[in-house]
Amino acid sequence: MKPLSIRNKIWLTIISVSVLTIILVVVVSYYLYQTLYIEKQTETLLKQGQVLEQSYYENNPENFSKELDWLDESSDTSVIFTDDPMLLASGAPFDSFAEENLITFSERQDLLKGKTLTFTKYHTGLDQEISAVVIPLSVEDRLEAVIFLYIPLTAIAEAFEPIRNFLIVGVFLVVILLIVVGTKMTNRIVQPIKQMERVAKDIAQGDFSKRLSIKGKDEIASLGRSINTMSSNLDEVDRNRREFLGNVSHELRTPISYLKGYREALEEGIIPIEKFAETVRKETDRMERLVHDLLDLAQLEGDSYPMNKEPVILAELVKEVLDRFRLKLNDKNLIAEVQLDEGVVVNGDYGRLDQVIDNLLSNAIKFSANNRTIRISVVEVKTMGILKIEDEGVGIPEEDVPYIFERFYRVEKARTRKSGGTGLGLSIVQQIINKHEGKIHIDSKRGKGTVVTVEIPLFHFN
Ligand SMILES: Nc1ncnc2c1ncn2[C@@H]1O[C@H](COP(=O)(O)OP(=O)(O)O)[C@@H](O)[C@H]1O
Ligand SMILES: [Mg+2]
Repeated sequence: MKPLSIRNKIWLTIISVSVLTIILVVVVSYYLYQTLYIEKQTETLLKQGQVLEQSYYENNPENFSKELDWLDESSDTSVIFTDDPMLLASGAPFDSFAEENLITFSERQDLLKGKTLTFTKYHTGLDQEISAVVIPLSVEDRLEAVIFLYIPLTAIAEAFEPIRNFLIVGVFLVVILLIVVGTKMTNRIVQPIKQMERVAKDIAQGDFSKRLSIKGKDEIASLGRSINTMSSNLDEVDRNRREFLGNVSHELRTPISYLKGYREALEEGIIPIEKFAETVRKETDRMERLVHDLLDLAQLEGDSYPMNKEPVILAELVKEVLDRFRLKLNDKNLIAEVQLDEGVVVNGDYGRLDQVIDNLLSNAIKFSANNRTIRISVVEVKTMGILKIEDEGVGIPEEDVPYIFERFYRVEKARTRKSGGTGLGLSIVQQIINKHEGKIHIDSKRGKGTVVTVEIPLFHFN
């Protein structure tokens, strides 16, 4: 069997609840109306009976029979007055109830005790449903006669006419209302879900451009908003992925085409072998660096290679890295001014922090002109060890600063290519610092220089 759609499920619920409610309302109102109506009729019968009873004891038979006739004719009430013992049933308990008897044996017993009877039942003698009141008329403890007042229930059924019409109209109106409200409600629920289904299918097929139009603030709207957020996040991830792939293939293709070009030039004898060898070395080095950085970044972005944290004396590390750069500093005749607090011990991965300082220092050197100063300081502020590397280099244009940590982002592609950068250095640095719960901030003025500030949490000695 085909599973029910949400729309049909909602309708099924609405219909079954409404049918049950309508049945309940109709039954209850009929029941109540009937009870109340019969109660009222019985009361009337009783009153009418009491008037007749009084009149009977006044011993004015003419007057009494006039009143009997008048009551019989002027209202729905039928009156039987009888002193016929046959009609009033035999005195024997086991005689069967004769057709023509007005009252049963047990009723007669009650009447003998002077009790007034009220009942609603099918009366065999009268051959109809009736609601009746029987008043005993006795003289000196002898049941002389009875006044039997009754209303046929068919008359009561007629009394239902107005409420039946009322109920029919009411039910009709309720059904119309249910159809209108039900349609609105199901549309409200089903349409957004259908829309979500379509968008989710698009997402599954790799199209992240679709968005849901959202109205309201209920759970469905909030689900819709989540889907929109998910979709735009996926969109961004997808765009980043494409951009990244594009960049990677570009970066790898460039050295390959250089090599090809030089090879052809060598084959045609345009360049000497030494020049070719130099290019091969430069370009393969570049490719190696690129592949190395890419793998490194991929590792840092995953969770499989956690930081191996230990107490690290930041000043020692800075000195170690500086030693490695001695030659390069001397080449450009740069002065390294250091101000290191030897007491700053951070909680870090030694190798990774070395990588951070190495990258930042190489940038500072790379982007500084000859004869400039590079200032490096290590201090402690509250719970953080703070490393500052300040250069007097070319600086970064204000509009580029926000993008500087993006993969492959370089301010001047051509110039930086000559200087051998991949544009991955700062991305790697940022990843490492994030994994240390630290912070990095770059402050730069074009033509004036750059200040890079790194904060790493201090190591807690217990
Ligand atoms: N100290 C600096 N002074 C000037 N520009 C800088 C400095 N550090 C980084 N940059 C700019 O940021 C870009 C990205 O840096 P980075 O990620 O280290 O890549 P790369 O060094 O491989 O070019 C650099 O190409 C350069 O344009
Ligand atoms: Mg760099």
